[in-house]
Amino acid sequence: MATNHEVILSGVRPTGRLHFGNYFGAIKHFIDLQKQGYRCYYFIADYHALTTISEREDFFRHTLDMLRTYVACGLDPRKSIIYRQSDLPCTAELTLLFGMITNIGFLERGTTYKDKMSKLTSPEGQPEGNPLSYGLLGYPVLMAADILIVKADKVPVGDDQRQHVEMAIDIAERFNHRFGEVLKSPAPVARDAIRVRGLDGSDKMGKSENNTLDLLDDEKTVLKKIKGVPTTTDPLPLETESDDPEAILPEMPPSVAALYHLLYLLAPWEVYTDFVGKYRRKERFYGQLKTTLAEYVTAFNKPIIEGFHAPDNTDEFVMDFLRDNAAKVTPVALDTVESCREAMGIGHSLYRA
Ligand code: TYM
Repeated sequence: MATNHEVILSGVRPTGRLHFGNYFGAIKHFIDLQKQGYRCYYFIADYHALTTISEREDFFRHTLDMLRTYVACGLDPRKSIIYRQSDLPCTAELTLLFGMITNIGFLERGTTYKDKMSKLTSPEGQPEGNPLSYGLLGYPVLMAADILIVKADKVPVGDDQRQHVEMAIDIAERFNHRFGEVLKSPAPVARDAIRVRGLDGSDKMGKSENNTLDLLDDEKTVLKKIKGVPTTTDPLPLETESDDPEAILPEMPPSVAALYHLLYLLAPWEVYTDFVGKYRRKERFYGQLKTTLAEYVTAFNKPIIEGFHAPDNTDEFVMDFLRDNAAKVTPVALDTVESCREAMGIGHSLYRA
């Protein structure tokens, strides 16, 4: 296998099952980059998941299941360093160091924080007090620590994480400006990073939005979910002559656009354009579109479901590689933390030396 010295890092929160947004926004790229021989660090962001917790959730169970799905998708723990965020606790130390030099105003401009804040805000104005957590406000600081601790060059993520990566770059630049060139800034998120729409037609497929199509959904579930997508609106006239999804999807009703986007991602180009033609001619075709899409989704999921249940893809297998890989990433991470401690003036850790 070719080796490539650039470092790749990305994480996924253990929120339950992986969905098609996670796959096309992130996992697909993880697999491609692994194939290209990069040094890849892929982790499960279990600390981050705690920002959305309302009662105890079994994040460890979700972590194991998500990692078994990673393996079923083609990620290989002997080629990529796959670990759990909380098994690298020095990330928390780096978060603390960054937190000391990060302005609250900068964090309040984060879109995730702003969205959550606006949902709390009544039409009459601000809620009394601010019930959002310190961890949610500091989410981008923890994410910057994840990225900078392994000296990542590239961070493959979906479009929704773009701003978080920009904030990490900002934190690195400010740190270096103040304390010397210690941290390596990653490249900004690629311009073609995508955002998969939710089955309800909303802007983003996401677990908390309850609008996902999951990689482990079986044939029956897939058909039920796709049939449930609202398609009562008649096709609208299209101004664009292009079949390119970027041009065409914004002109369709949102939930129809969600179906076409998935068809574009999963089916051959001719199948996708054939259905675009039907849309332009306003034929009656939504039923056929849904069954065709459901077939492609089911065929896509089949080997993943089989791989997930494969006899050697067990909890024990996952726990073994988690242990091994945590041991591999720790020295790299400690090196960054020690350099930051030294640069900021508190000196090296005495107990770790
Ligand atoms: P998370 O768990 O929300 O999502 C994991 C990955 O899936 C992508 N994704 C999508 N891409 C396209 N369309 C969608 N509808 C969609 N939904 C999710 C996300 O962009 C992401 O790549 N904060 C991160 C986890 C994280 C992280 C990091 C990522 C923590 N530290 C450091 C990179 C680097 C998150 O919540 O992802």
